[in-house]
Amino acid sequence: MRVVITGAAGFIGSHLADTLLNHGAQVTGVDCLTEYYDRDVKLRNLAFLQGRSGWTFVEKRVGAITPAELDDVDTVFHLAAQPGVRSSWREFDRYVELNLLETDRLAKAIVAANVPTVVFASSSSVYGDLSTYPARETDATRPRSPYGVTKLAGEKLWDAYILAQPMRIAALRFFTVYGPGQRPDMATQRLVRAALDGTSFTLYGDGEQRRDFTFVDDIVEACVAVSSSPNLETSKINVLNVGGTGEVSMLELVRTVETAANRTIDIRWAPAQVGDVRRTGADISALTKLTGWEPSTAVEVGVRRQVEFEYEPSMASWRRALT
Ligand code: NAD
Ligand code: UGA
Repeated sequence: MRVVITGAAGFIGSHLADTLLNHGAQVTGVDCLTEYYDRDVKLRNLAFLQGRSGWTFVEKRVGAITPAELDDVDTVFHLAAQPGVRSSWREFDRYVELNLLETDRLAKAIVAANVPTVVFASSSSVYGDLSTYPARETDATRPRSPYGVTKLAGEKLWDAYILAQPMRIAALRFFTVYGPGQRPDMATQRLVRAALDGTSFTLYGDGEQRRDFTFVDDIVEACVAVSSSPNLETSKINVLNVGGTGEVSMLELVRTVETAANRTIDIRWAPAQVGDVRRTGADISALTKLTGWEPSTAVEVGVRRQVEFEYEPSMASWRRALT
């Protein structure tokens, strides 16, 4: 099996590469190492993959991938993007360039190369605030951030490309992903660092906002299961939620990190951020029906893994199998 992972130096992409290499795939990772956060974090992710059998890394932009580079590729996992809900109120041109224009360039190369399967990293942020939970894929979408708008537009773009060529395209709506190597701008990683460094954590809003936090290994297993599913439609995009571990409030997350790190965190309160949704929660029955996938990592277990990795950032703690 030959696959391409875009965004392979990032948090989720590097874990996906690790798992696919373990499965014996030929994996080409593509990443241009954007400066959204410390490049050293991405270089460390790449160091865990370097030299592994089947691994090739290409430092370049997604939009520069040629059809020839996609020859004989079974699946493109398109994870490269400008993430971050809150910062998308600034620098929107960056979000449009990296999340839409670059995706369009990649889609053209994929069509020209006749790649049969695409897995696109979409987001729970396409839903916004809903009147009923858990969120179903058939619910109305009303993103509450410019970032969410680009993710929803990305889904629509891929769906349009099915007109150019029938393909198996899945848009996986990931629900707030955490785990070893999480992006430094995200709440769980900031909490873990605050606990270990004795610095403060700025909590936006009243702390009662809830998230369906999903462990990165569960996300990776969903990507793999979907890519190999014989049941994907080819006449329209397959939109699927990936979450379902259960909703946790930010105050509960603070306590979970404190327990895992055995430290007390100094909380500084700040106003709720514009566009920060009150609640996320995934109905995963569509994905379970399609592939049998279900999340298997409780938040207490996953957070402990993330803390252990920060204590000892080795390959073993990055990818340690759950016990
Ligand atoms: P990340 O920032 O760690 O990884 C993204 C990687 O893409 C980065 O290494 C960046 O350098 C690279 N990149 C960006 N634009 C590129 C381009 N044009 N060409 C080549 N490389 C490029 O982010 P992550 O948290 O691992 O998220 C991965 C994907 O999952 C993103 O599409 C994100 O929107 C989506 N997602 C993430 C979460 C989450 O909670 N982390 C939730 C929902 C969706
Ligand atoms: C995350 C990712 O950043 C997005 O890329 C992704 O698309 C999205 O999940 C998703 O599920 O679709 P978010 O839910 O905001 O977005 O994740 P966190 O950064 O972990 O924030 C969770 C909560 O903690 C939010 O309410 C946020 O306001 C709060 N927070 C975050 C703080 O209180 N303080 C911080 O320093 C950071």
